[in-house]
Amino acid sequence: MCGIVAYTGKREAYPLILKGLKRLEYRGYDSAGIALVNQGIQVYKKMGKVAVLEDSLLGISLSSQTGIGHTRWATHGEPSDRNAHPHRSSNGKLAMVHNGIIENYALLKQELSNKGYQFDSDTDTEVLLKFIEDIHIHHAGSLEEAVRIALRRVVGAYVIIIVDEDDPETLIAARKGSPLVIGIGKGEHFLASDASPIIEYTKEVVYINDYEVAIVKPDELILKNLGNERITPFITQLDMELAAIEKGGFDHFMLKEIFEQPVSVYDCLRGRLDAQLGTIRMGGVDPHLDKLTNANRIIIIACGTSWHAGLVAEYVLEELCRIPVEVEYASEFRYRNPVIREGDVIIAISQSGETADTLVAIDMAKKQKAFIFGVVNVVGSSISRQSDAGAYTHAGPEIGVASTKAFTAQLVVLMMIALKVGYAKKSIDKVRFLHLINELNEVPEKINFILQSAENIQALAEKYKDARDFLYLGRGYNFPIALEGALKLKEISYIHAEGYPAAEMKHGPIALVDESLPVVFVATKDAYHEKIMSNAQEIKARKGKVLAVISEGDVEFISIADDVMVVPVADELIAPLLSVVPLQLLAYYIGLAKGLDVDKPRNLAKSVTVE
Ligand code: AGP
Ligand code: GLU
Repeated sequence: MCGIVAYTGKREAYPLILKGLKRLEYRGYDSAGIALVNQGIQVYKKMGKVAVLEDSLLGISLSSQTGIGHTRWATHGEPSDRNAHPHRSSNGKLAMVHNGIIENYALLKQELSNKGYQFDSDTDTEVLLKFIEDIHIHHAGSLEEAVRIALRRVVGAYVIIIVDEDDPETLIAARKGSPLVIGIGKGEHFLASDASPIIEYTKEVVYINDYEVAIVKPDELILKNLGNERITPFITQLDMELAAIEKGGFDHFMLKEIFEQPVSVYDCLRGRLDAQLGTIRMGGVDPHLDKLTNANRIIIIACGTSWHAGLVAEYVLEELCRIPVEVEYASEFRYRNPVIREGDVIIAISQSGETADTLVAIDMAKKQKAFIFGVVNVVGSSISRQSDAGAYTHAGPEIGVASTKAFTAQLVVLMMIALKVGYAKKSIDKVRFLHLINELNEVPEKINFILQSAENIQALAEKYKDARDFLYLGRGYNFPIALEGALKLKEISYIHAEGYPAAEMKHGPIALVDESLPVVFVATKDAYHEKIMSNAQEIKARKGKVLAVISEGDVEFISIADDVMVVPVADELIAPLLSVVPLQLLAYYIGLAKGLDVDKPRNLAKSVTVE
């Protein structure tokens, strides 16, 4: 994943790059580094978060108008000072930062070692830089040409940005598979992995595409392909605001984003769902609705929390549209040589729109002529640009590594698509269509109600924070929510947690149950309610601790559970939008009670742009 920031222009580069790296730390924080060009290249880099690098540079004169910065999520070489980026060429004249994985780095490293090159780190990045250096010295005229020649031999994913002490104002950048945005200023340019370091300086940006090389000077941006042909940069306007990427008075981005859900769900519905008129209009879906109504099969591709959204969508789409749905882990789908037939429609779900596994999976599906609907949060992201159609979730920037508001926004978009297709196919009648439109319309208010009970959930977090393991159980539409609740807890508190279909317990996992094991039932009122109550009794009979997310007024479950988290009554198909919120809060407060960094959990990053 990692975050990259670079600048060339009239401002002091160091403070601008450092601030930008802090905005990108959610993408990885194993180490941080910066290279500044001023009478040669000065490289400063440190293991740990950006603040560690900042502290190490206090009192050092760092004046320069051109520089590159990196906050790392290690793939090759453990987190350490020596493996931190930027890396330097052997002759010291170049420095480079990289986001991605060079898959054939071992072969390149062997070739370079045979030529006498030495390596200061264990990273694939350093190998790529010295490969470029070697071509620059022996074969190419310009550094830009050397970059293009080298990248034609590279297998893998990258964004790289290079500075050259012999051309102190110029940045050379290239992209394949990882994200890069260039902000256009007056006599200055800003480069970053996403727009958050750029937004306060300019809203005019260029999204760099795969196989493009950018030669960036303070007052000039040249774009070329690897064949050295000029490309006209497509300048677009950013639609985010600076305030949206700040904490807004909350202790953590994750808590802010959980509490933003009434607004983010409303923003997702706004302009699309009209409860008065009983209509749903989706500009990115309507022109291609026939693809879905005529689909023989829908294949949903995603990772992590987005995959859980896909599981909920499977239940909803099959119920409302009567179309067979398969939900695939993107990383498995792409390596399984799947059968994709005419009439198959792919739905790709991604918050960041940059997840490498998902991106490559849809590229493969496109090659087999599948039609791709993207359900993405980040506007202009790679997956949104690779999709044939789709809908943005409009959840706003999600900075917390654990996905919360983007998840509920994904569910809203998927439910609206299912309603449109089901009604168009006449697999649901007008009464049910209008009923579910009204149910969706009430969700922001119902989430607001749940958020009022945050303190009660914080008390539960204090009570259960020392548990070694958790089980999360659900049935039907709430089974994926059990999985999502378990993932939230794992990510934020590092406590082992597993999600399971409630009925599966008796086929083995119930052996885990004893008085030390909290079991969280996602048990809002639905058709399975009696069954899941019996499952809870089975746990109680073995002295397990029963926590339950229940619907308002469910006195039966209250008599069984040790502790409950109450959500408003809703149609069972809409309930996942509500039942997930207490589980998000539970994970957040347990992580907080354990004194952990809930916005930047260990080993994780927000956007997994490596495979
Ligand atoms: C969710 O809390 C995790 N951070 C992770 O599982 C995430 O959902 C996954 O990496 C997919 O990311 P995407 O939605 O940006 O594609
Ligand atoms: N593969 C490079 C490394 O391990 C970059 C990883 C990243 O994208 O953060 O240093």
